[in-house]
Amino acid sequence: MYVTIQTEGQSPRDFYQYLIGCVGPRPIAFVSTLDKEGSSNLAPYSFFNAFSSNPPIVVFSSSLRVKDATEKDTLHNIRHQGEAVINMVNYAIVHQMAIAGIEYPSGIDEFKKSGLTPLASQWVKPFRVAESPASLECRLEQIVSLGEGGGAGHLIVCRVVAIHIRADIIDEHHRIDPHKMDLMGRLGRSYYVRASGAAVHTIVQPITHPAIGFDAIPEEYRHSAVLTGQDLATLAGLEVLPDFTAISESEGQDETWNTLTRGEASEERHRYLQHLIRTGNVGRAWRLILTNPQKDRISS
Ligand SMILES: Cc1cc2nc3c(=O)[nH]c(=O)nc-3n(C[C@H](O)[C@H](O)[C@H](O)COP(=O)(O)O)c2cc1C
Repeated sequence: MYVTIQTEGQSPRDFYQYLIGCVGPRPIAFVSTLDKEGSSNLAPYSFFNAFSSNPPIVVFSSSLRVKDATEKDTLHNIRHQGEAVINMVNYAIVHQMAIAGIEYPSGIDEFKKSGLTPLASQWVKPFRVAESPASLECRLEQIVSLGEGGGAGHLIVCRVVAIHIRADIIDEHHRIDPHKMDLMGRLGRSYYVRASGAAVHTIVQPITHPAIGFDAIPEEYRHSAVLTGQDLATLAGLEVLPDFTAISESEGQDETWNTLTRGEASEERHRYLQHLIRTGNVGRAWRLILTNPQKDRISS
């Protein structure tokens, strides 16, 4: 059963909530610009992502204000001044970001409202957020208007001139440690997600070969009521099947499995395979699957 929402005829407010509840978690661009008088403006934008690394292009979207279809300050400033700094939002500054995200009259400096510290940039005029774990100095490439009514997005396509990353976040292999970066993502309504600790998962993909794939898993296991899509993906995700020829007959014996294969309890066998897969013994699980095919099956 699904609830299906056709765009036409929907209240824009409801549709917005369905959309941002589905498309997430979204990264947050905390955008610093300068107005004509040289005052700072700082505002969060979560319709944001990186779209190219060469050339280095990031895009965020500023919607026209719903109440009167006027341009928000960030869009107005970047249209005239052509530069921005996109600061990353981590857990330490997310509440200050929320204060900066409130609608203030034009000309109000949200650095002052949020208590964040402006730091001079090297290549562009707008300031960086000193407390941010990473900042992108950007020049405007183009603005793409997606409509004229309240809520209409305006894509602000930016070329990244330089990235500043707090030194302690970069590990000895010159890679970013997500736990130290501690980024926040935006979900629907007032929900956010913190991308560190137990929320971060490692999913290793084959690099040199394509994966074995689900179609290599015997049907009995592919249609198992016990093994989940995640379990099967762990089996299917290997680059190559383990080399069984290198295993002697005695090494290849598995007492638990042998006991289970003698009985009728195929569910128990699937549970045992699941245990092996989830404890990192994927090669062993494959060996049992391929060397002890079962006739009976349990399917969902
Ligand atoms: C986390 C967060 C994400 C937001 N994302 C967007 C967005 O993608 N597009 C948008 O137009 N407004 C977005 N807003 C609302 C703007 O930040 C808000 O309208 C702000 O007052 C605009 O400031 P400005 O007029 O100084 O640019 C977001 C607000 C928050 C708190």
